[in-house]
Amino acid sequence: MPLPIPMDDKMKTNVIIQGDCIKEMKKLPDNSIDLVITDPPYNTGVNYGKSKDKRKNYIKWCVKWIKECERVLKSNGSIYIINYPENNARILSESLKQTNLLFRNWITWHYPTNIGHSPKNYTRSQRSILFYSKGNKFKFNLEEGEVIDDLIRMNLVKNTSKEKVKGFPNQIPEKLIELLVKISSNEKDVVLDPFMGSGTTAVVCAKTDRKYLGIELNPKFIKIANKRLLGKE
Ligand SMILES: C[S@@+](CC[C@H](N)C(=O)[O-])C[C@H]1O[C@@H](n2cnc3c(N)ncnc32)[C@H](O)[C@@H]1O
Repeated sequence: MPLPIPMDDKMKTNVIIQGDCIKEMKKLPDNSIDLVITDPPYNTGVNYGKSKDKRKNYIKWCVKWIKECERVLKSNGSIYIINYPENNARILSESLKQTNLLFRNWITWHYPTNIGHSPKNYTRSQRSILFYSKGNKFKFNLEEGEVIDDLIRMNLVKNTSKEKVKGFPNQIPEKLIELLVKISSNEKDVVLDPFMGSGTTAVVCAKTDRKYLGIELNPKFIKIANKRLLGKE
């Protein structure tokens, strides 16, 4: 079944723009986005086809795109950044110095794993998610009396997972993005993912009646994402 794709209004939404996210975000108006959720390259050398995921000035580069995210966010908007903890620790430190974003929480995403074991190290089984708001009046949609922990336990997308798409190396689980989208945005809100990859954020937005705006360097991945949006994967 094709997924419902919400209708556009003034700002072009429900599209994935091909290009560099910093350059493309510069074309977006100030205060136009309700929520940013992103899972950028982790600087581990993954081959994304159009980009080498290995930068000498990785943290400096992260701060550059985070500043653009801050500019385009509305005053009640929020931002989530998924990464390895050792990267997020440095990103957090620099972003606190170089932006006015308000740091809200460090969320740990813990996943069971059956790969990456070493006799001389602890097996990596977590990523962290930095949560910031732009102002103090940010959305946080919990039911009356409901609480949520800053530890999320959820499986990675495995090769055998139902949602796994072909041709993309590291897909984030839809359930994880859905949790963040529902807590930090309302229906019809605009959610930006500047590193859209295989389109997980877009698919979740389409399913939850949010508008998405994606940026992705590799046109092959945009094809995969658009195919996924049409329910063809
Ligand atoms: C970790 S992946 C995102 C995966 C995504 N969350 C998913 O579930 O499919 C990072 C993505 O950022 C893209 N990318 C790398 N540098 C970029 C840039 N400067 N601008 C836009 N996209 C970029 C890569 O091509 C890759 O698809």
